[in-house]
Amino acid sequence: MKVLVTGASGFIGQELAIALLGDSSFSEIVLTDLVKPHIPYATSGHGIALRSVSADLTNAEARQALLGSTTFDCIYLLHGIMSGAAEANLDLGLKVNLESQIAILNILRTTYPGTTKVVYASVGAVYGPAQKGEVVSENTVPVPQSSYGAQKLMIETLINDFSRRGLIDGRVCRLPTVTIRAGAPTGAASSFASAIFREPLSGKRTVLPVSRDQEMCICSPRTVIKNLITASKIPKEKFGLFRTVVLPGIKVSVQQMLDALEEVGGRAALELIDERLDEVTNRIVASWPADYDTSRAASLGFEPDISLLENVQEYFQRYINGN
Ligand SMILES: NC(=O)c1ccc[n+]([C@@H]2O[C@H](COP(=O)([O-])OP(=O)(O)OC[C@H]3O[C@@H](n4cnc5c(N)ncnc54)[C@H](O)[C@@H]3O)[C@@H](O)[C@H]2O)c1
Repeated sequence: MKVLVTGASGFIGQELAIALLGDSSFSEIVLTDLVKPHIPYATSGHGIALRSVSADLTNAEARQALLGSTTFDCIYLLHGIMSGAAEANLDLGLKVNLESQIAILNILRTTYPGTTKVVYASVGAVYGPAQKGEVVSENTVPVPQSSYGAQKLMIETLINDFSRRGLIDGRVCRLPTVTIRAGAPTGAASSFASAIFREPLSGKRTVLPVSRDQEMCICSPRTVIKNLITASKIPKEKFGLFRTVVLPGIKVSVQQMLDALEEVGGRAALELIDERLDEVTNRIVASWPADYDTSRAASLGFEPDISLLENVQEYFQRYINGN
């Protein structure tokens, strides 16, 4: 498969690029982002052609240059403006999360009708607040309570409709919060869910802005990446009339996250957390469903997540012990 990854300088894009390079189903990979994406490691020996291209996908000429005369078997649509940033800047969110995605889907449906698999990274934020104990699934009516969630849901709907018409072959994956994210903090309200591991494990202080009894659904980078690759390989017939799937994650409380941090980093790591409740962040996080029924994902062949402790240990081995 010849594959394009948008948002490839981002966290998931970079992790996905590494995994694609190790998968013989992919023969040619193009990575694109606002700035030329970093190529994860030397391609020699992998037998996969790899190219990195800078493109602002809100720009029509840049989109045309990237997609107008090149066919891809599969496109991972990962670029976007995240939750907090999309809420703070409606115009930017609309431009990137909605308009640029519609424009790309329109190029695909008009220039190469029916030929391109599109794997779209959607999010649990398409749902509104869940009732206590409510289990959310693909059958739950999504009532987004953020512009980010609303923009994601609109693109989900379009991908489903274009797939119904046979114009693209879409796969919409609703991802849990991916934790632990390496690198810098983000504009997402969920940023703390990685920071409370990443910063203390590197000896840095960080703020915990939500209460310890807060629960959320998270997933390790390892499982999310495996499942995004699986998404491109499932026969379209298996999706039936609906191309949307809630990817597996695990429900954890903030207290359980702190316990896992202490188990891996010791008391010293735990002491680097400053608990400072931020009412706004706490309210946003409380509004996200934490319980998901992922039986559809299981029936389609997606993998369950590893345990939180394994996830933290893996991060520690890779980023702290590995340095
Ligand atoms: N990380 C998570 O926990 C999570 C959870 C659910 C869904 N998702 C979705 O997965 C996707 C990837 O997430 P991520 O964590 O890697 O995000 P990220 O913020 O790390 O990466 C997004 C990338 O999009 C790029 N981008 C923004 N505007 C662009 C433009 N105009 N043209 C081209 N590129 C542009 C950015 O430069 C950035 O590198 C996103 O669509 C996100 O909504 C992520």
